Amino acid sequence: MLVLGLESSCDDCSAAVVEETATGPQLRSLVRESQDAIHGPFGGVVPELAAREHLLQVRAVMASALAQAGIGLEELDRIAVTRGPGLVGSLLATFSASKAVAWRHQIPWVGVHHLLGHLNAARFAAPDLAFPALVLLVSGGHTHLYLAKDWTSLHLLQKTRDDAAGEAFDKTARMLNLGYPGGPLVDACSQAAPKAADPFTPPKFRDGKASWSFSGLKTGVKLRVERDPRLAEAGASDPEVQGLCRSLQEAISAWLLKPVPDLATEHGARSLVISGGVACNSRLRADAAAMAARLGLRLAIPEPRLCTDNGAMIASAGALLEPGAEPWDQNADADLKL
Ligand code: KG4
Ligand code: ZN
Repeated sequence: MLVLGLESSCDDCSAAVVEETATGPQLRSLVRESQDAIHGPFGGVVPELAAREHLLQVRAVMASALAQAGIGLEELDRIAVTRGPGLVGSLLATFSASKAVAWRHQIPWVGVHHLLGHLNAARFAAPDLAFPALVLLVSGGHTHLYLAKDWTSLHLLQKTRDDAAGEAFDKTARMLNLGYPGGPLVDACSQAAPKAADPFTPPKFRDGKASWSFSGLKTGVKLRVERDPRLAEAGASDPEVQGLCRSLQEAISAWLLKPVPDLATEHGARSLVISGGVACNSRLRADAAAMAARLGLRLAIPEPRLCTDNGAMIASAGALLEPGAEPWDQNADADLKL
């Protein structure tokens, strides 16, 4: 089965052709148009600009995914597209375009939840994953831990109370004037650090509820920069800036993984999946590998280009869902529930 997957929930316009085989999904092509140059000067995604840019990009992105896979529209068995959650203007670009193409060429079409997509990015490397699995989805918009019984179900176990982990990376990079998007830049700085700065103190919750909070990190970095304004100007080659990035990265990785051992025991988990843009982080990948080995869990983290938003993960999830007979009145949903 050949599936075209499309994703434009935020600032990446991406399309991929995936062949679903008896042994799992095979990537035939992957195209992604980044809008970093457009949003960079604002230090974050500007929804209106993102939506307009997607409209300009969507046809070419779709065409080049098909061309790279060496197939025409008529060979597709299915089109899968992100239905939500995300920025509604952004979502609508690929959602509407894919519906029109599917209707015109009578290709079965299916809308996919963005987070099921992130889970299914792990299917490329681990199609035979053992369930139940703990699924940590960490990006610029999500920091959620789920229990999955299979590739199409996610049951929420805990989430952040405030900022997503990716925001902590992006906002730190902004305060240190490192550039945009912040995650990869903070990661590179951390890896160059001769030593870590003082550690960040983990938040304590009075209500005792299992959750995360990352907004305190933003304040923590702000206070350190106020105390030493040189940090905001020194740049990525400065050892103090590097040390600060390393402490931040160590804290985020440790906090994200902290609930894993207890929850794995409680739910009898056999695997750990980590996906979403922050799953590209070098420290998180290393810490997760050590923890999974210690706990005897199978670890599945997609290769970095499949961790960030992409059409391949949507095709991979869409291959497992049943397209409706008459799905044309479905709409994109900025707040789509699982
Ligand atoms: O999944 P994604 O592409 O888009 C959302 O759905 O949000 O994730 C983007 C987030 C950004 O916050 C970005 O800074 C972060 O992923 N990110 C990283 C790294 N690469 C991307 N964070 C930490 N370390 C990285 N290497
Ligand atoms: Zn995402």
